[in-house]
Amino acid sequence: MKSYIIKTFGCQMNEHDSEILAGMLEAKGYRSTEDTGKADLVLLNTCCIRATAENKVFSYLGRLKSQKLSNPAMIIGVCGCMPQQEGMAAKLRQLFPYVDLIFGTHNVQQLPIFIDRILAERKPVLEILAEPDEIVEGLPAARKEGLRAWVTIMHGCNNYCTYCIVPYVRGRERSREPDDIVKEMAGLARDGFKEVVLLGQNVNSYGKDLKNPLDFAGLLEKLDGASGIERIRYMTSHPRDFNEELIRTIARLGKVCEHFHLPVQSGSSRILEKMHRGYNREHYLSLVEKIRRHIPEATITTDIMVGFPGEDDGDFRATMDLVREVRFDSSYTFVYNARPGTPAAGMTEQVPDEIKKQRIQDLIKLQNTISMEKNEEEEGSQQEVLVEGESNIGPGLLYGKSRGNKTVVFAGDKTLTGSTAHVTITRAHLAYLEGLLIKQ
Ligand code: 5AD
Ligand code: SF4
Repeated sequence: MKSYIIKTFGCQMNEHDSEILAGMLEAKGYRSTEDTGKADLVLLNTCCIRATAENKVFSYLGRLKSQKLSNPAMIIGVCGCMPQQEGMAAKLRQLFPYVDLIFGTHNVQQLPIFIDRILAERKPVLEILAEPDEIVEGLPAARKEGLRAWVTIMHGCNNYCTYCIVPYVRGRERSREPDDIVKEMAGLARDGFKEVVLLGQNVNSYGKDLKNPLDFAGLLEKLDGASGIERIRYMTSHPRDFNEELIRTIARLGKVCEHFHLPVQSGSSRILEKMHRGYNREHYLSLVEKIRRHIPEATITTDIMVGFPGEDDGDFRATMDLVREVRFDSSYTFVYNARPGTPAAGMTEQVPDEIKKQRIQDLIKLQNTISMEKNEEEEGSQQEVLVEGESNIGPGLLYGKSRGNKTVVFAGDKTLTGSTAHVTITRAHLAYLEGLLIKQ
């Protein structure tokens, strides 16, 4: 029996693509292994959102060289977002001539054919499609977890934020047919999954390209009613396309969780404009106000970037002020990194590294203080927790996520795994909440 390793870099989209790659390999008789030395296939599913993501791939490939020398039959593959960039596939070939297979984000479904070709011809395969094809349905996914499943609702992105590489490597927006999504969710419910996370680069523009257009709120409505799934989450939202109607829909639907991940990127309207985000500070703050008005218990998280070209002290202060004003439950914070080929990479006024470093430190410090305070506000509250299993924090402890997407740890029997528990929060920590199981 042949064995494979898939090493995934990047976001949930990539994680889910890896489940599909794994599903195709397993259908071909491959089994997963941890042992790189013995694997017949090592596939790197790559990310290029920042240079750090790419550097991890370069060093991983460097380390594989000696293994390839001692096991020349091993197939080394690189796929995903990185090779999809202009010139990158050639660079990879040149730097790592022992790589056997390179393909991109638009021809994932061809992996089994590529492997057959390499085995038959003993020649490297390099195939990158510039444009996405039709969406391929029905590919098997080897999902790792048994409780939470990722479901792609749309591919690609049409936004062209000036810092972002994603539209260049994931193609234009294509929405899946609602019926295909409903069918997939029904299958997941049958397989025992309790929660789905709907995936798209900008879920709020879902459906615009369908023959019978259905917007994201309409899709949520359909999914809330149609499946045996208990919880529905989604990512990622775009503040430009997020509106009160959607907030009202989410407030009304029982399965859609009250967690809003709404990337703000910057608190300065001037910088948001240069980023081509299509909203300003006031619009963002008004969305937050509407979310809290309709759903007072909602948790709100975000992505924030510091050091975008031209960001001065005043712009950064505006970001810090916005963080203080919104009081996010948590945020993913990033230092701007110039991506070749994006408009922002060519902008003058790139911010010096020392300033970026200082700003990210200040921002993280502020956010940590707020996250802790927000968690403390949950002390004494009752939370509905979907139990994921035993916690590694201590013996006899279970963990799961609240509807607001916070990790909750509490004492309980492991047979509760997979069920919904009601827990009183007794103590806040920065990264999780501690609680007591309420006996039913
Ligand atoms: N540099 C730094 N961070 C970036 N992101 C996207 N592109 C870049 C870049 N060039 C961040 C954004 C996005 C998150 C997934 O990654 O904040 O929301
Ligand atoms: Fe995901 Fe973007 Fe990284 Fe691709 S480049 S894996 S879409 S984060």
